[in-house]
Amino acid sequence: MMLQVQNVSCRYGGFTAVDNVSLSLQSKEILGIAGTNGAGKSTLFAAIAGQQTASSGKILFQGTDVSRLPPYLRAQNGLVRTFQVPREFKSLTVHENLMVAAPNAQGEQLYAALITTSGRMRREQALAEKADQILGFLNLAKVRDTQASKLSGGQKKLLELGRVLMLDPRCILLDEPFAGVNPVLIEEICQHVHTLNAQGIAFIVIEHHLQALKSLAKRLIVMDRGTVLAEGDPQSVLDDPRVQQAYMGGVA
Ligand SMILES: Nc1ncnc2c1ncn2[C@@H]1O[C@H](COP(=O)(O)OP(=O)(O)OP(=O)(O)O)[C@@H](O)[C@H]1O
Ligand SMILES: [Mg+2]
Repeated sequence: MMLQVQNVSCRYGGFTAVDNVSLSLQSKEILGIAGTNGAGKSTLFAAIAGQQTASSGKILFQGTDVSRLPPYLRAQNGLVRTFQVPREFKSLTVHENLMVAAPNAQGEQLYAALITTSGRMRREQALAEKADQILGFLNLAKVRDTQASKLSGGQKKLLELGRVLMLDPRCILLDEPFAGVNPVLIEEICQHVHTLNAQGIAFIVIEHHLQALKSLAKRLIVMDRGTVLAEGDPQSVLDDPRVQQAYMGGVA
């Protein structure tokens, strides 16, 4: 089992945004999460990845309780997320954005003082090559030296994916990877997810674009007002009358 979310709730003040949610993700699975605006999907991701501390419940990652770990330690363990609104450094180039996403070894200051300049340069060189490999894989090599602020919406989503790939993840949470992305790039992003999944990376994908979600995930969860409304294979979930009603007027 890659990930187990056990009875997780998240509150903003007195408001319960995620209400006793449980789910699990198998190694090598792609799980889809859909749901109405404000259903608590992004908050659930924040609880899993650590930006938000669950007010109750547990997050187990590869069998270990990570509920109290800060985000960077969860990321070091291989559990990473992207954000609904991409968080690139606008004034940096695409390649530089990947470089700064690389993990800092703990105790970097001491480490930096101890190793030789040439050792540091070798590490930088290795990271630079890794960043270039990822850019090649994501078809972003052509914008390697472009300022991130100049990218299209779809390219920013790809850059967001590239940044988390620098962390050698085992599990990636994608928050609306297709929002504001043209159909050609949607297809391309789907292909990248399938390729990475075939290499052993598990995914949870939040998405309103249900056709794209269905082509990615064999299992779907629909959230509504903080809770899991339905779960199962995509078509039966989308055909579920409670889901249809939550979306007020049909979805598929
Ligand atoms: N920082 C915050 N402070 C207070 N309330 C918040 C905060 N972030 C989100 N909320 C509220 O929590 C609820 C869940 O928000 P969340 O962003 O998790 O929903 P979502 O399912 O991702 O929605 P969307 O599809 O619009 O992205 C919403 O009612 C939202 O207004
Ligand atoms: Mg959201």
